[in-house]
Amino acid sequence: MSQKTSAVYARNPLTFILGALFLVGLTLGIHVPATGALAQASRAAPEAATGAGDRPAAPIRTQMVVAAHPLAARAARQMLRDGGTAMDALVAAQMVLNLVEPQSSGIGGGGFLLYWDAAEKRLATYDGRETAPAAAGPDRFLRNDGTPIRWPDAVGTGRSIGVPGIVPMLELAHQVHGDLAWDKLFAPAIKLAAEGFGVSPRLNLLLTAMGADAFNEEGRDYFFDDDGEPHALGEVLRNPALAISFKQIAEFGAAALSHGPIAKGIVTAAREPGVATLTLDDLRDYTAIVRPPVCAPYRGFSICGMGPPSSGGMTVASTLTMLADRDLGDAPNAAALHLILEAEKLAYADRNRYMADSDYVAVPAGLLDPEYLAGRAGTIDSGQTMGRAEPGIPPDLGMMPGNDVSSENAGTSQISIVDRFGNAASLTTTIESAFGSRRMVAGFLLNNELTDFSFAPVDDLGRPVANRVEGGKRPRSSMAPTMVFDAGGDLWAVLGSPGGSRIILYVVKALVAMIDWGMDPQEAAALGIFGSRNGPAELERGADMDAFAADLAALGHEVARPSMTSGLHIIRVTPDTLLGGADPRREGIAIGD
Ligand code: DON
Repeated sequence: MSQKTSAVYARNPLTFILGALFLVGLTLGIHVPATGALAQASRAAPEAATGAGDRPAAPIRTQMVVAAHPLAARAARQMLRDGGTAMDALVAAQMVLNLVEPQSSGIGGGGFLLYWDAAEKRLATYDGRETAPAAAGPDRFLRNDGTPIRWPDAVGTGRSIGVPGIVPMLELAHQVHGDLAWDKLFAPAIKLAAEGFGVSPRLNLLLTAMGADAFNEEGRDYFFDDDGEPHALGEVLRNPALAISFKQIAEFGAAALSHGPIAKGIVTAAREPGVATLTLDDLRDYTAIVRPPVCAPYRGFSICGMGPPSSGGMTVASTLTMLADRDLGDAPNAAALHLILEAEKLAYADRNRYMADSDYVAVPAGLLDPEYLAGRAGTIDSGQTMGRAEPGIPPDLGMMPGNDVSSENAGTSQISIVDRFGNAASLTTTIESAFGSRRMVAGFLLNNELTDFSFAPVDDLGRPVANRVEGGKRPRSSMAPTMVFDAGGDLWAVLGSPGGSRIILYVVKALVAMIDWGMDPQEAAALGIFGSRNGPAELERGADMDAFAADLAALGHEVARPSMTSGLHIIRVTPDTLLGGADPRREGIAIGD
């Protein structure tokens, strides 16, 4: 990061004040989706917010990257300029994000990738989700008396650490879609790790919120000074250990993480007395999986996403299918919001009950059956809320799984890329919570993804929960990397967002904003957030949702006004230009040529 950028970050006292406000909320609530205060803080940074005024003056016609940090976006653009594909650019962006946005993603985590191959007109989806160690069982998150432990007591422990999947997945996808040599993709990240980068407002705030004691020794030594204070805004941070790890992966590929000193370091860092934590065999047995995309028609478009073990694609598809016959108007309005919330409640009720790793449990395909969904949609009353939705009985249901009590938290990033050949990548990548398990090894953080499992393996009626822990299984995700195709089968939009179990709400909001309400991607990303995860109507605290709160309450909704930090990164492909949208609530940027 340039001196200039660092200096501007450091000059912003507002960042500290707003950060402090955010911290109070965080220490009281410890639910890391950040607050509006943090969103404001990130807006104070140069290039951080990509509101309307920040958009490039010249139209972007050839290639575009939208990522959560300018340095990651630039590294990806460099690969595109060097003739690389979206796949090449994606690997470069992910590695730089590991360094500059370590709270959200990295080589110790996992993710899901949608890749559009323009020449073959083929959409592939890649599953790089973490797995539970082979020896993990249903008691992983249970006390001796059989009751589930609390989420905060699991997150920073070895119980939560899954076998990382992102590098094996990127390696697999690069073998198919990459053009540049694998080792070249690591050059920007290696250089930045060795030479340093400026600490961003968001990194500083989240470190302050988390505190040094949350980390293992390596993490503490890296992120905090000798007095236990986080490195300041703009301070140049070097990560030589990560530079070495990147060099190893550049040379040996994903094998560098499953063999040799890094692998041994992972196993040691993940250890937890009395718990079956991951072994070298777990690391070596990890396989990334190519899975079929989940697509649904909506207003003449095809909306495609990631199937199980993510619930993202199916829940977005189910929500939109239930809205397909409804008129949502041509701008946000209370009646439309009500219909969307009701459809989301029905979709989340099914998600919570039925969706999990389909390699371990039967996820009914009938959940997306148009007749089934028409029946569900028929229960939506435009004059009053249903309150809480019950799961339906899809036509191909085998055994009824138990009621799920999974809990999901923050620490994820979205990278959207379109290259000059028309290929596109949408990667949602995560270490789960902010800073994952807070255990750092070889310069990177290990995930806490296993806390996405239901802590209780059976419900009150003794029925096994679909998303229970099993050895080798992938925890259910909400990540929803998405691509939209027009009636001619051409790519129309690339998008996705972080946000834990709210990701689905964010993606649905952006899709409706662009498709129904005709917004451009920047407007769609910035639009106030609304949605329901089958609980209250959640309306983002802030001006543009105020207008709807009273009307929704009059329809019987319990209205909650949380701060919600989506990180929508969107590219709209039009016949002669690429339009970018970077969520103003974070530090992302859309750039291109
Ligand atoms: O896979 C999931 O759904 C979650 N582990 C993602 C967490 C997340 O998005 C946090 N974002 N801010």
